[in-house]
Order: sequence, then C-alpha cells, then structure tokens
Amino acid sequence: MSNSDLDTDEVADIYDELLKTYQTEWAYRGHRSLHLEYYDEDHDEPGAAAMNTMRVLSEAAGIDSSDRVLNIGCGAGEDSVWNARAHGATVVGVNISESQLDLARENAAEHGVSELTTFNYDDFHDLSTIDDDSMDVVWGLEALSHSPDPARALTAARRTLRDDGRVALTDLFLTVARDELTAEQRDRLERIEDGLGLRISVFTQFEQTLDETGFENVQRRDLTDGIKRCTERRRSFARLAHPVGRVLGVFGVVSDTQLDSFVASSEIDRLLGAGVLGYYLVTADAA
Ligand SMILES: C[S@@+](CC[C@H](N)C(=O)[O-])C[C@H]1O[C@@H](n2cnc3c(N)ncnc32)[C@H](O)[C@@H]1O
Repeated sequence: MSNSDLDTDEVADIYDELLKTYQTEWAYRGHRSLHLEYYDEDHDEPGAAAMNTMRVLSEAAGIDSSDRVLNIGCGAGEDSVWNARAHGATVVGVNISESQLDLARENAAEHGVSELTTFNYDDFHDLSTIDDDSMDVVWGLEALSHSPDPARALTAARRTLRDDGRVALTDLFLTVARDELTAEQRDRLERIEDGLGLRISVFTQFEQTLDETGFENVQRRDLTDGIKRCTERRRSFARLAHPVGRVLGVFGVVSDTQLDSFVASSEIDRLLGAGVLGYYLVTADAA
C-alpha cells in the first residue's frame, strides 16, 4: 500500500458513515469524544477514562487560559470544549466533515463555551483558515494518524504557531519499520488503515519529520498500557457485532464501512498486543 493513496474526502466519508456507531459509543460514555479511553487508577470507567485522555494531553501541553489552541481534527468538538471548560483556553477546531463541525458547534453551545470556541472547515494539511504565528498550541488527539503526508501537516501546523508555541498530540504509531512487520502483521495493518482511513506513522520517522518541519525538544510518553482496556473492549464488542452485522447487512441495516471498522478495531488490539503498534503522547516546541 502506498502512503499517499488516501484523500481527505475518503476519511470524511468514513466518519460520516460511522456516525451511527459513534453515537452508540457516545451514549455509553456520556459525551462525544472520538478517541481511545486512557485508564488509570482514578479513571476506571469509559466516560471518565475518555476524559482522562484529554486531561493527560492537556497537562503535558501545559494549557492555560492565556493559550490559543488549534485543534487539528476536532471531531464532534469534545476536546475543544474540554480545553475551554477546564482551562478557559480559546480554541479553534478544524475538521473536514461538516456534520462533525455542526455537532462540535452544538456541543460548545450546550456547554456554554461558544464564545471561546470556533469551528472551521479546513484540512489540517492546509490550515488555510488560520493565520501565521497566531497559535500557542497545536493539539492533535488521534488526528495525524489520518495523514498520508505528516510533513505537510506539521509544516502547516508550524506556520500557525508563534515562536514560543508547541505541539501536543496522542496517537497510534508503529514501533518498527513497515518492512520489519511479518506478512500477517502487514495484512492486519492494512485492515486497520483501510477500515478507519488511517496512515499510521513509524514513530522514529515521525520524530525526524518533527525535526525537519521546525520543531525541537521532542518528548514521548508511552500510554499504551492505559488504553489496552479500551481496545480490548472494542475487540470484544466487534467479536459479537461483526457476525450480527453481516446478517443485518443483508437487509441494509449495517454497512460494509461499519463491518470494516469492527475488523479494524480488533486488529488494533492485536497489533498493540504484539508490540508493533504503540499509543504515544508526543510534545515538541517550535524551534
Ligand atoms: C479519531 S478522531 C478524533 C477527534 C477528536 N480529536 C476527539 O478526540 O474526539 C480524528 C478526527 O480527525 C479528523 N480529520 C481526519 N483527517 C483530517 C484532515 N485532513 N483535516 C482535518 N481533520 C481531519 C476526522 O474527521 C476526525 O474528526
């Protein structure tokens, strides 16, 4: 599979198609986050653990009320709303899905933070709605793994940052080069990437890309153990949902995209278990 064969319309279509699945998850969590749950001893149930992912990232980014935060890949607005509510930060969220942007605006209004948040249709590879040197933090919660061209996305991110700005993200990364994967692992990775519209970076390459696009002082924290309960839960759900979904699919109730996403969830858990995928929190300063 080539690394540049994914366009953003495909990613937006996958998200729009999976909205029904996410709505089930939102009912379960009690909020509209689209990321993995990070469990620790103080955050022991899905809603709290999903909030915890935002908490650890925002703590590592050192966000406070003076910060202007650019949320690349802002989903249904949950992490933007969270930073506005928890810290009083001003947040601009960008996304390539109008339906998610509508949900994000609604989410901000429901939580009384519309004045602190703005949501723009924009591709994070371009950031054409964002001025140069206007942001303190670029925040990416499981967003850049959708990028077929992280160098372009990080170059755009760097352009928007002030000289003392920083980037903070959590995401899935490959812990080994693609050609070091076994044939079976490569097939599993392909099912993950095709099913969810992802292009997962090899961490060492990503680190080098940060360096080449104007960032320094790269820090990495491994959160893999904390998210395994979430990926295991999704895999157990998929074990049941996939066969049932195949039957319902005959009647058009469940789509192929939904079925593929169940398979992808199971494969993520398997590759995390095999140690070839990791979930990392990464911060870096503008150089
Ligand atoms: C896993 S979701 C995370 C959403 C949100 N950060 C959260 O934690 O709830 C990834 C998000 O990135 C968005 N996305 C993917 N590719 C994008 C691109 N090229 N430009 C902007 N957003 C993108 C998707 O539409 C989706 O909202």
